[in-house]
Amino acid sequence: METQSTTLNITKTSSSRINEVDFDNLAFGKHCSDHMMICDYKDGKWQTPQVLPYGPIPMEPSAKVFHYGQAVFEGMKAFKDDNDKIWLFRPEDNFNRINISAERLAMPAFPKEYFFEALETILKLDKDWIKKGRGNSLYIRPFVIGTENGVSASPSDEYRFIIICCPAKAYYSNPVKVTIAQKYSRSADGGVGFAKAAGNYAAQFYPTNLAKEKGYQQVIWTDANTHEYLEECGTMNVFFRVGDKLITAPTNDRILDGITRKCIIALAEDDGVTVEVRRVPVKEIVGAANNGELKEIFGAGTAATIVPFLGFDFNEKYYELPEVENSYGARFKQKLQDIQYNQAEDKFGWRH
Ligand code: COI
Repeated sequence: METQSTTLNITKTSSSRINEVDFDNLAFGKHCSDHMMICDYKDGKWQTPQVLPYGPIPMEPSAKVFHYGQAVFEGMKAFKDDNDKIWLFRPEDNFNRINISAERLAMPAFPKEYFFEALETILKLDKDWIKKGRGNSLYIRPFVIGTENGVSASPSDEYRFIIICCPAKAYYSNPVKVTIAQKYSRSADGGVGFAKAAGNYAAQFYPTNLAKEKGYQQVIWTDANTHEYLEECGTMNVFFRVGDKLITAPTNDRILDGITRKCIIALAEDDGVTVEVRRVPVKEIVGAANNGELKEIFGAGTAATIVPFLGFDFNEKYYELPEVENSYGARFKQKLQDIQYNQAEDKFGWRH
């Protein structure tokens, strides 16, 4: 059935797929909810967004995205509280960041009203896909691709902005072991590391596979110039607890300005924990592991939330992290989820 909102065309699905999904055993990102949003950019402007049943999109093989990877994306989540109210978490930050990423990949900015109206429409239509309870969420994946046909290596002059949603539980079901990168790099000065460019993730697959062969689930990326400073981990930002301090690398053109990262810094400072946002030498963390001062390392990202690390490998030596009482990772995950699930006052104004 087709309806019209102020800014969108809406076509509802005639047969929901929700009964095909086992919500107790969800593999991250495997199932998409009933509706998606598609908005095309052509003749220099974004056209009317369409909310329509999720399904395949026909594209020509010569579309630029297939050849030059002109693609950026976001990851965000919606949560359902105990009263069935649905909350987006810091969506303005995702909106701003996708346009920052788009600019770096020479793509046009997307209008804010289209973004929010599309999100709100999909969440209303697909509200049953969001389950209550800690750990349950709807992972929302907005992305933009260059759709102009033709394989010349120049920016596309046509784009497609799409939003799809996947019901999600934990991204990692267990703590992870990681290895510190000494050969491969995730990003370089002046590059696209700060952007959520699709290629940043593809480029990690091969070195991460090598790490997996050695029994590590993720790689802690170091700076490309010297490999002496710790930067990000897999698809997450990374935090180190040394003594009672929390340390994380500053954002720059190599490191993603993670929203969960910003939340942890704010929650920790609010809790009276000293947070040092500065370069993190590998040597310092190895030294702290050796003298017992290194208490925790954890990753932080939208999909993963907060993931504790069991230990790390460096120079073929494995450093196991101690079991700590009063873990910062566990404490800030709890505080973050209290806000996300509307079980605590939203003193930072993060719920939408
Ligand atoms: C996110 O946390 O949203 C990410 O970008 C991770 C994703 C690559 C699965």
